[in-house]
Amino acid sequence: MAFKLRWKDPSPPVSVEAWRQLARRKLPDLPWAYLDGGADDLVAMEANMAGFRRWNLRQRSLTGIAKPDLSATMAGVTLEMPLALAPTGAAGLSHWTAEIATSRAAEASGTRMVHSTAASYSLEEVAEATEENHWFQLYPFYHRGKVAELLDRAQAAGFTALFVTVDVPVVGNREGERTSGMTQPWTMTPRRALNILSHPTWLWNAMRHKRLAAAHYLEPSAALPPRPGGQLMGAADDAARSAEAQSRYMQADLHWDDLAWMRDRWKGKLYVKGVLDADDAAKSVDEFGAEGVVVSNHGGRQLGNAVAPIDALPAISERVGNRAEVFLDCGIRRGTDVITSMCLGADGVFIGRPYLYGLAASGEEGVKSVLEIFRAEIERALILMGCPSVDALDRSWLLPAG
Ligand SMILES: Cc1cc2nc3c(=O)[nH]c(=O)nc-3n(C[C@H](O)[C@H](O)[C@H](O)COP(=O)(O)O)c2cc1C
Repeated sequence: MAFKLRWKDPSPPVSVEAWRQLARRKLPDLPWAYLDGGADDLVAMEANMAGFRRWNLRQRSLTGIAKPDLSATMAGVTLEMPLALAPTGAAGLSHWTAEIATSRAAEASGTRMVHSTAASYSLEEVAEATEENHWFQLYPFYHRGKVAELLDRAQAAGFTALFVTVDVPVVGNREGERTSGMTQPWTMTPRRALNILSHPTWLWNAMRHKRLAAAHYLEPSAALPPRPGGQLMGAADDAARSAEAQSRYMQADLHWDDLAWMRDRWKGKLYVKGVLDADDAAKSVDEFGAEGVVVSNHGGRQLGNAVAPIDALPAISERVGNRAEVFLDCGIRRGTDVITSMCLGADGVFIGRPYLYGLAASGEEGVKSVLEIFRAEIERALILMGCPSVDALDRSWLLPAG
């Protein structure tokens, strides 16, 4: 029997979970707590993944389908697969190349990235580094002048769709971040410093490239006073100081009137991200002119016991799916999760943590590898199901798991 002897297996990780384990080794505890954590007791975060296990996929045999069609249209763009990169703030904590790497990897795989308001590179830097137009995510905050400035910059830089995130009026209770020192500013102890020193490559790149924080927020022009009366609690300890600092960049009393204002200002397609209720989805589309919604609980990082998007999806799709685009994110770790989402009415999905694992472990190549894993898994599963295309997916392809 022939075999190859190697000190280390040179092949890339074979699954999203394998990329996750590699990323864990590459990152110090503090950025890892940010990347992989969730709110409260992680109930919503775990439910996001568990939700997919409640469904089986129908398998038709002898169909002769060898090359299913994976292409799908999201936000007016035809993509090679029904999957794009969700906005993730401060991606520079995972790898200094952050959104430059993620946007390029998305393009190389025939898809797109949503650029976060809290991105580590500016809108203009990403536009400069890419060939295609990507999409912009807005965290609405109370300073309308600054929000208007950001929207104008996004339009001028060629970002074609706006995703307004509505599930962060305040930051979720992420205890893992606080206990690892991710307050504002970070709280360093000898133990935490030692942990960071034991990841010299990460530390060297962090110090050399200075891309740990959010580019837009750091601009001197964007230094805002805290929202009057908007602080969550008195600045008595590090956690409270962090909450106060963050309150400058969100809006606790976010309201439909704010959405109306954004709809008015933004000339391109607009999607409401963080919707879990069919009434809210209908209101976004019918009264506020949104082109669609992203059914999302922010990866289980906000409301601790929020419903899993895969469970909220059927009612939302039934309500607005005939006249608006319905996307889903949260908990997608396999090609079969993408397929289940489409069977339940999604027009496409987004991934968050999966591509950050690839980014943290191997930069742009890692993100590409994660995307290619999804592509291969979707294609293989469709062949095994005997389904000709992602377009053909509907409820008839699903069976409740026994
Ligand atoms: C580290 C991290 C940062 C995030 N930052 C943002 C953000 O800046 N804006 C936003 O709308 N959503 C943000 N999200 C939520 C994602 O867009 C997405 O909803 C979520 O990650 C999907 O769940 P998944 O990680 O299980 O794929 C973030 C998620 C993570 C994990």
